[in-house]
Amino acid sequence: MDDLKAKYLGQIADAGDENALEAIRVAAVGKKGEVALKMRELGKMTPEERQMAGPALNALKDEINSALSAKKAALADAALDERLRTEWLDVTLPTRARRQGSIHPVSQATEELTAIFAELGFSVAEGPRIETDWHNFDALNIPGHHPARAEMDTFYMHRAEGDNRPPHVLRTHTSPVQIRSMEKQGAPIRVICPGGVYRADYDQTHTPMFHQVEGLALDKDISMANLKWVLEEFVKAFFEVDDVELRFRASHFPFTEPSAEVDIRCSWDNGQLKIGEGDDWMEILGSGMVHPKVIAAGGIDPEVYQGFAFGIGIDRLAMLKYGIPDLRAFFDSDLRWLRHYGFAALDMPNLHGGLSR
Ligand code: DAH
Repeated sequence: MDDLKAKYLGQIADAGDENALEAIRVAAVGKKGEVALKMRELGKMTPEERQMAGPALNALKDEINSALSAKKAALADAALDERLRTEWLDVTLPTRARRQGSIHPVSQATEELTAIFAELGFSVAEGPRIETDWHNFDALNIPGHHPARAEMDTFYMHRAEGDNRPPHVLRTHTSPVQIRSMEKQGAPIRVICPGGVYRADYDQTHTPMFHQVEGLALDKDISMANLKWVLEEFVKAFFEVDDVELRFRASHFPFTEPSAEVDIRCSWDNGQLKIGEGDDWMEILGSGMVHPKVIAAGGIDPEVYQGFAFGIGIDRLAMLKYGIPDLRAFFDSDLRWLRHYGFAALDMPNLHGGLSR
């Protein structure tokens, strides 16, 4: 028994890891281990011998078991010490000097205009970019044969063979979010709906994906005068100037009556775009009094509620405000462009602290 004890306590002391320790446990005090085998021999002993050997074997078993758990704890401590030594981190190292990311001008402009409209009492609503034909067109008083469908260079989603329902579209404007907001919220309502829209078009001021913000205000006593005031307030706040020259041009949209397109005075000298001066005008938005059919399509009674709507090109606003001449570069993901035109990530635009600085 002394031999057994010396053998196993020695092995336990020398064990290098938990696996070795487990092998020793099985060999010594496991069900078929050496101590268990010895215990079986108790049956063949005389009662006197058994009285001596039984307690001694139990004591041996206990001793081996406690040596095993002590060694197990010691191995775990050593492993932790080793991890702490190798996974060392110098928290006093300075951070990287160069900023790693920046806010895209479209995101910046969206945050700025959201802050302005929030101050004017508009909340933000969003809708899906893959839109039903009904929300994108019919509900906005653009029936199937209407030329506006062709003018918008719509991207249609693929339709399964034999499926005769109208295909979904990549929304061509944010106007369908007017309908979704009316359906959801009813009237009175004041929302803006920013987001991406899609049209098959590509040149210096057009890309197949671009961004708009829709505005919708319905109540019992809203007139075109409210529309004009809101747009002027917005444009002044956005461009951070006391006065901006706007031109309201009578126009036509199926979803508004009457309708106006709004241009902003600018110049394009040597490809440099400047706002507020020059002989050029850049169209930045469409607007008007919401057509009664559109209000009804949104589930609201046009005899009770009226109001205005507008749709503004966010990318164009960003080009004008930040003097960016080519829209296509917005979506090239060229890091040099982003470093040049991007905004600091932690400056949140707000009307009191300043929109952009
Ligand atoms: N949806 C129009 C477009 O993309 C823009 C627009 C015009 C929106 C007039 C409106 C509006 O809400 O009243 O060309």
